Amino acid sequence: MDESRNPRHSAIETRYILAPHQVNALGTAFGGVIMSWIDTVAAMVAQRHCKGVVVTASIDKISFEAPIYVGDHVILKASVNYVGLTSMEIGVQVSKENPKTGKQVRTTTAYLTFVHLDEKGQPKKVIGLSPETPEEERRYKNAKLRVQARKELLKKIKET
Ligand SMILES: CC(C)(COP(=O)(O)OP(=O)(O)OC[C@H]1O[C@@H](n2cnc3c(N)ncnc32)[C@H](O)[C@@H]1OP(=O)(O)O)[C@@H](O)C(=O)NCCC(=O)NCCS
Repeated sequence: MDESRNPRHSAIETRYILAPHQVNALGTAFGGVIMSWIDTVAAMVAQRHCKGVVVTASIDKISFEAPIYVGDHVILKASVNYVGLTSMEIGVQVSKENPKTGKQVRTTTAYLTFVHLDEKGQPKKVIGLSPETPEEERRYKNAKLRVQARKELLKKIKET
C-alpha cells in the first residue's frame, strides 16, 4: 500500500460559466455561488487524496479580488497543500476568463481544511503527502505555517 501520494494525483481543474441567476444586485457573481464551487471542488480533491469520506472543518478568509460577470468562465484549480494526521489543507485558485478574448484574471485564492472520517464518523488517519516540485514544496511549507497558526489560535480561543 502507498505510504504517501503526490498532490498531482488528486489535483482538479474545472470550469463553470456564470449564469444570470447567479449574480447579485450589481450584476456580478454572488459570493455564495463561488464559495459553493470552491467547497465542492476542494472536497473532491480531499476525497481523491484520502480515497474516503471527508467533511469541511474550516474555510480560511476568502477575498474576492475582481468582479465576475455573466458569461465569464470561472476556472477553479485545486490541490492538496498539506496533510496532518487526519486533516488535509486544500488550496483553490479561482480565475475568470473572458471567452471572447481568452484573457484570464485571478479572482480568489482560498484554503480549506477537510477531515477524513471513518464509518463511525470519527477522524481517520490520512495517507501522507509527497511534494516533489519547488511549487509543491512551497505550498507545503506555507500550508504548514497556516496549520500551526490555526492550531495556536484555536488553543488561545479555547483558553479564554
Ligand atoms: C471536523 C470535525 C470532524 C473535527 O472533529 P474533532 O473532534 O475536532 O476532531 P479532532 O480534534 O480529533 O481534530 C481532527 C483534525 O481536524 C483538525 N481540526 C479540527 N477542527 C478544525 C478547524 N476548525 N479548523 C481546522 N482544522 C480543524 C484538527 O487539527 C485535527 O487535525 P490533525 O489530525 O491533522 O492534526 C468536527 O468538528 C465536525 O464534525 N465538524 C462538522 C463538519 C461539518 O459538518 N462540515 C460541513 C460544513 S457545514
